[in-house]
Amino acid sequence: MKKYHIITFGCQMNEHDSETMAGMLSEMGMEESLTRNEADIVILNTCSVRENADKRFFGTLGQLKHKKENNPGFIVGVCGCMMQQQHIIDTLKAKYPWVDIVFGTHNIHMLPELVKNVETENRKMFEIWEDGGDIVEGLPAKRLYRHKAFVNIMYGCNNFCTYCIVPYTRGRERSRKPEDIIEEVKNLVADGVVEVTLLGQNVNSYKGGEGYDFADLIYDLNDIEQLRRIRFMTSHPKDLSDRLIQAFVDCDRLCNSIHLPVQSGSDEILRRMNRRYDHDKYLNLVRKLKASVPDITVTTDIIVGFPGETEEDFEETLRMAREVEYDSAFTFLYSIRKGTPAEKYEDQIPEEVKHERFNRLVDCINETAAKKNSAYVGTVQKVLIDGRSKNDIFTYSGRTEGFKLVNLKASDELIGKIVDVKITDSNTFSLVGEMIDD
Ligand code: SAH
Ligand code: SF4
Ligand code: F3S
Repeated sequence: MKKYHIITFGCQMNEHDSETMAGMLSEMGMEESLTRNEADIVILNTCSVRENADKRFFGTLGQLKHKKENNPGFIVGVCGCMMQQQHIIDTLKAKYPWVDIVFGTHNIHMLPELVKNVETENRKMFEIWEDGGDIVEGLPAKRLYRHKAFVNIMYGCNNFCTYCIVPYTRGRERSRKPEDIIEEVKNLVADGVVEVTLLGQNVNSYKGGEGYDFADLIYDLNDIEQLRRIRFMTSHPKDLSDRLIQAFVDCDRLCNSIHLPVQSGSDEILRRMNRRYDHDKYLNLVRKLKASVPDITVTTDIIVGFPGETEEDFEETLRMAREVEYDSAFTFLYSIRKGTPAEKYEDQIPEEVKHERFNRLVDCINETAAKKNSAYVGTVQKVLIDGRSKNDIFTYSGRTEGFKLVNLKASDELIGKIVDVKITDSNTFSLVGEMIDD
């Protein structure tokens, strides 16, 4: 039996594409290999959102050269967001001739055909589509977890934030039909899934048909019995509707947690990022969410050192972080992306200034994260047990409804179950708890 190994560099959407590819390769009769060394085919699923993702990809690809030289039948496939950029394709052709298969984000469904062609004709396959055609439904997926699943509800992005490559690598926004999504979720639930995470670059602009928006989809999914938890990401603040806030109140399966990327706290930087909201509008949105859903957890993404960011602009970001009191945040150093409008902006910020601000921001975020987590000590939380903790084989980990990571003693039989847990301790990134016997 041939073995495959997939390495994923990107976001949840990228991760889910890898699950789909694993499903297709399994259906071809291959089996997954846990290491690249034992694999007959290795696929690198790339991300182009920041420069270090690019670098990690080329580094890994370089390491595969040796294996290919010693084993000509070994197949190297590359796909994902980087493949939608012409300069990357040019580099691959010029410097990495040992790559066998190259395909993009719009045609991962072609993987079986591309693999067969390489095997039978022994020639290189470059198959990259410029933009998404019709959405291909019904592809298999080999999930990472039995009890939880990602579900794409839409593809692409129309927002063109000036720093971001995603609209160029994932194409324009396309929504799946509600009935296809609902059927997929029902099938997943029949297969033992209790939690689904709905994926889209901006789920708030989902359009399921005339007058049918993201909130409608949530209400419909909330009717599926046996589904215990619904999550989603990501939500663009400019499109977050009052109806969605109401859905948090009405839908018991919708987890009280939201990832709401702010990017910056400065009105001027937000304008130049093309985010289409300002500091006050964002803050009012968070206040409204917290007023309607008092226990909601709020997380975010922040970019430090966007071109032209002054010390005052940065302090506005710190002010936002203090005002919102995020449960946690992903913080990024601004990274120039070829082909985006901000690439051409003057006043790129020197690396040392970026780093210095980044460290101050991380300190500020960690302080509130630790404070927020400590407030859970003594409370009882519903925790979905995901599996054994990576660091300690005697400990298991799971997530609260608010997506807080909890470490606790449990057992294999409890994986995939939701249990009551008393929180006994906390730190910056996680909670510690004990199961309550009932
Ligand atoms: N669609 C999602 C996010 C996609 S990218 C959204 O709009 O929220 C994930 C995160 O990467 C972004 O939220 C942003 O914070 C960060 N990011 C995107 N482009 C970047 C760049 N050029 N430099 C640094 N961070 C970037
Ligand atoms: Fe990128 Fe902005 Fe689209 Fe998110 S909303 S994917 S940050 S362009
Ligand atoms: Fe995701 Fe990276 Fe592409 S963040 S959409 S894999 S550029």
